[in-house]
Amino acid sequence: MIKINVPATSANVGPGFDSLGLALNLYNHVHMEEYDGISIASADGVEIPTGEGNLVYKTAKYLYDVCGKPFRGLRIVQENNIPMTRGLGSSSACIIAGLAGANVLLGCPMTTGELVNIAAQTEGHPDNVAPALLGGLVTAVLENRRVYYVKQDVRGKIKFAAFIPDFELPTSVARGVLPDQVPHRDGVYNLSRAALMSVSLYSGAFHNLRIAAQDRLHQPYRLQMIKGAEDIFELCYHLGAYACYISGAGPTLIAMIPPENLQFAETAEKALADRGFRGWRLQMLEIDNEGTTIQFE
Ligand code: HSE
Repeated sequence: MIKINVPATSANVGPGFDSLGLALNLYNHVHMEEYDGISIASADGVEIPTGEGNLVYKTAKYLYDVCGKPFRGLRIVQENNIPMTRGLGSSSACIIAGLAGANVLLGCPMTTGELVNIAAQTEGHPDNVAPALLGGLVTAVLENRRVYYVKQDVRGKIKFAAFIPDFELPTSVARGVLPDQVPHRDGVYNLSRAALMSVSLYSGAFHNLRIAAQDRLHQPYRLQMIKGAEDIFELCYHLGAYACYISGAGPTLIAMIPPENLQFAETAEKALADRGFRGWRLQMLEIDNEGTTIQFE
């Protein structure tokens, strides 16, 4: 058996719609081996599809097909720590687990770049799948089925407070509220901030993050669907956050925090309770610079 460890991811990072994403130290673990037939189980009670529609199974099988290799079947056991449909890259984690796992079972015929290409074609955009595989902060463009990307380690000291609500927001719904056209000035607003976000996170210029996280392409539209989000942003800034943004398509919210702000989590949780917020949990996370790892068991 092999064990595939895939990090959660937070896409867009504010203005970098469909192009920026970073990996966080919260992991799905998938155990996988070749098998005559199909056997899929959940190790932790999280409900998952156990038939051919299972995303890990489907993408693994797809890689066998792409490589022209005979496919007997797979035995898969999943440990899902990344909450589903919350904007933390749970489906990308399944896609990467399937592709990276199958690649190892096949003797590694695909390069990392080829796996990123296949994953992004499968997902439709590269901003979750690329950091899920590579770790760190990834800037990526999908053009003609190929991903052009740069992965940067984030070495500066920064923490990520993930405010995870108890409701789901499917990406298709969150994309459905976006306009077909935006003013030219909004395009300029976002591209300057996306560039600033990428280089500020890489270089540790965290004083830029509040401006760099601003966005006019998706967050203003999506905030309407996440009740309480603006209050949580305001609270986080009040408590000293560098920056706040909607993680991926939402509904999870991320606040980037200086690590010396040791009281942040406790104070934020208490403030939410005092203000009558129900159904949100706070998880403190850090950057994962390593990406997907695989062990033989
Ligand atoms: N960039 C995507 C979006 C991320 O915002 O819709 C979701 O996977």
